[in-house]
Order: sequence, then structure tokens, then C-alpha cells
Amino acid sequence: MALVDEIEEIAKRRGFFWLSQEIYGGVSGFYDYGPLGALLKQNIEKLIKEHYLQEEKCLMIEAPTLTGIDPWVASGHVESFTDMTIECGKCGEAYRADHLVEEHLKVKTEGKQANEIQDMIETNKIKCPKCSGILSKVYDYNLMFKTYIGPGKTKLEAALRPETAQTTYMPFKRLFEIGRKKLPLGVMQIGKSFRNEISPRKALVRLREFTQAEIQFFVNPKEKNEWDISKVKDVEALVLTKQDQKKDGKPKKMAISDLVGKRLTNRMVAYFLAVSLLLYKKMGLDAKKLRLRQHKDNERSFYSSDTWDVEFMSEKYGRIELVGVADRTDYDLKRHQELSKQSMEVSVDGEKFIPHVIEIAYGIDRPLLCILESCIRQDGDRTYFSFPPSVAPYQAAVFPLVNKDGLPEKACEIYGMLRKKFLCLYDVSGSIGKLYYRQDEAGTAYCITVDYDTLKDNTATIRERDTKKQVRVFVKNLAGIIEKLTNGEINFEDAGKAIK
Ligand code: GAP
Repeated sequence: MALVDEIEEIAKRRGFFWLSQEIYGGVSGFYDYGPLGALLKQNIEKLIKEHYLQEEKCLMIEAPTLTGIDPWVASGHVESFTDMTIECGKCGEAYRADHLVEEHLKVKTEGKQANEIQDMIETNKIKCPKCSGILSKVYDYNLMFKTYIGPGKTKLEAALRPETAQTTYMPFKRLFEIGRKKLPLGVMQIGKSFRNEISPRKALVRLREFTQAEIQFFVNPKEKNEWDISKVKDVEALVLTKQDQKKDGKPKKMAISDLVGKRLTNRMVAYFLAVSLLLYKKMGLDAKKLRLRQHKDNERSFYSSDTWDVEFMSEKYGRIELVGVADRTDYDLKRHQELSKQSMEVSVDGEKFIPHVIEIAYGIDRPLLCILESCIRQDGDRTYFSFPPSVAPYQAAVFPLVNKDGLPEKACEIYGMLRKKFLCLYDVSGSIGKLYYRQDEAGTAYCITVDYDTLKDNTATIRERDTKKQVRVFVKNLAGIIEKLTNGEINFEDAGKAIK
């Protein structure tokens, strides 16, 4: 069995993630992150957060996940956030009708209406895959989790947000004031979103509760094509345009400057696609498996004039959309203006207009799964995760060579010093080989071993996870060296020079 086929089992055993509510049989679409997964997820969020706050100078906000229903009426989710569904009259199992047809007939159904799907089911006499029961008529099923806020007659119809975006649009005017009435204005939210998916499968790929990091850039429509792409113009990627999907379906290698030069998209969308590719590489995703795909006209969301995804071609799960970069025009702000009767218009440099929005919508859970798939390695009987040090759950672990002769005390002292600087573990339970392997399985970037020489000359060894190479450094330099290694400021060979 290939390693990637075991990824869910390994993730469960080592404490990355597992099906939530396991003791009651689990509920599909909900996962717990274990001790390693929760840290890995935080590090993914951190990379995105640092980039958008520091490089793109975005503001960050946090809004509730539960809202009244009005924003979702305005956004169109109440009316259109639906999937075609079909149910078995015998066992009650529900299916995405279009997916069922695709799986059964091995055809594409993109752009087909419910009545066409219904015809295909009837003509081909498709039955329930589970019990061969007769299927119901195809119907539209809204993916929002709806509920009420408060009791009694005055209770408010409410929903859990299916995207963070609308909760950033609602306070736009306040944010515009706080941002000193300047555009472009980038606002980021990292938080949970909820979709009552019909039959969630593929582990973290289709969840009912998931984390998004969504950035909304409010811009003057003119700015979309004035954006400076010089920093990323040479970034290359496999690109599948909507035209190529109609023709041969084959992606072509292009630079970001080509996307702009050939007018395939605007400069802002092109820029943030490049930024996303660079972030995914930094996270440790296998760059060869990434590609950019433009949405076809019949698949694009109603609010967007142009949408592109960064996709990961997973060996186990197939094509996975990681982030969507969309030109949402002024659709959302206009709709909120109409329903709330609050003006969303701004006045900048004497010009009055409703800003357009370029949205960069990252999911966090899917890249986590793709990082596991990209970083898992087999080396003899060692199965380890080759995470980049900056996303590894733990940057370092400290052990004594043996559990006696004052070595544990010295190792503890070093551990106490290092953990003030970064996440670090201390372990003493087992032979040195076992201690190394345990950390390799968790993807810990560096192991520090305290031996008899440490007591004599205050030096210790650092072992690099992937190569198993070791260098000896002064204890006083350990924290600085690990930090520099993690930030990519020095390479491992250079780390040993500090001893001389
Ligand atoms: N605000 C736009 C928006 O929500 P989306 O393409 O529906 O766009 C953005 O979602 C990202 O959120 C996706 O690229 C994906 O990474 C993540 N995502 C969406 N639905 C998901 C689900 N059911 N489970 C896990 N992640 C999901």
C-alpha cells in the first residue's frame, strides 16, 4: 500500500486529526485536530496571517459565526447556496444528484440544470448505490445551518456563516473610516465557516465545519489593473484557463506576467494567485502538484466576474481546491446597501463609487491534508514528516543521551532555556534511537542531544530530521541557531561553524 493511502490512519495514530465524536460513532464532516494537528494548523494560519498583515498591510477583524438571516438574504445564499439533492425512498440515504450521475455514467455534469439531471437519472434507471432503492425527485437543498437566536415570538431567524466574507462586508463603512478613508483596503478574517454538506467524504477535503482565512480587498475598480505585480511577475505555474478547458483541457506552463500580458485576468487576481503559490511552497506543499485553474462561465458563483483556484493534484483524493481568488465586483456591497438601506458608497479623491472587492479565500484544513501528503517520507523503517521547520508542530526536542549521571538535569536546563523562544519538547523515555524516531514521526525539525561532553564543554548536538546529520554547537548559541535555521537564514552545514 502506498504511504499516501495510509495518511488518515497515520494522522489518527500520531495525533494530527481524527473523526470527531468518535466514542459515539463519529459524525461525518467534523474532525478533531489532535496535539500535532492543532499546532500544524496554527502554523499554516500564521504564515497566511503574517503575509497579509505585514506585506499587504491588511487589517484583521473577527466577527461572530452566527448571524441573523438578513445578510444571507442580501448575499444570495438563502436563495442560491444550494446543491441538487436526491434521496433513497428505501434507506433514506441522500446524495448530490449531479455527483451520483457523474459516478454512475462517468460523464461531466457541470452546468446542467436539475431537470436535466432528473432526466439522466430516469433514462439510465439509476438506483440507490447503497440499497438499490428507488430515488426521489431531484430537489434543491440549502447548505446553510439554520437556527434561531433567542426564545419565544421575538426569536430571530439565524444561520451559521457559510463563508467569512459577508461578515467582513457588513462593517465595511466602519472599516473604511478606521482605515483613514483610503483604498485599497485589505481586511482579513480567520475563523470557522459552516456548510451542511450532503455527504461529506475525503477526510478534511469536505467538512461541515471548517476554517477559512479570507481577505477582502476593497478597491476602486480602476485599481484592479494598476496593481504592482513586479515582485511576483516571474512566478511560474501550470495554468488551465477557461478557454483551454473548452479546447483540450491541458494546463500550460506560464509566468504570472503572461496571465496579465495575455489579459487572462486582472493584475490583482494574478498577483494574489502568485502570492498563494509562494505561500503554499513555503508551507511544504509539493510545488509540482499545484496548478491554477480559472472557473468556467457556467461554474462561476453568481457574485463573481472572474474566479481562479489554486488546486493541488492529490494522489489519494484527486483535484483539491485550496484557495479561490475572485473578482466579486461591487455585487456584495450593493446588495447589502439595498437590503440594509445603509450607503456603501465612498468618496475618494473627489470620486464617489461603491468599491469593488477582490477576494482571496483560503481554506486551512485542505492545505493541512495536502502538507501531510506532500511531506510524508519513508526511509527504511522510519516513516517521517519532512515539514519545513517553520510549519512543523514542534521546532525542536531535547533529550539526554542516557537517563543518568546528571545528563537529564542538564537537558532539562537547556529545554527550559529553549522553550522560552519557541515550541520545544523534552523527552527521556527510551533509547536515543527511539527518541529520534518518535520526533521524526511528529515531524519535529531538530533534535538536541545532551551527552557527557555537554557537561565538560557546554556543547550539544543538533540533529537534522531529514538527513539525520548532526552538528555540535555551544549551548549558549542553541536558541539563536534553531531560530535562524527555522527562518531559513542559515543552512544546517553552516550551523556547525558557530562552534569554531
Ligand atoms: N468566500 C468565498 C468562498 O467561501 P469557497 O471556494 O466556497 O469560496 C473558499 O471557499 C475555500 O474554503 C476553499 O478553497 C476551500 O479551501 C475551503 N472550503 C470550502 N468549503 C469547504 C469544505 N466543505 N470543507 C473544507 N474546506 C472548504
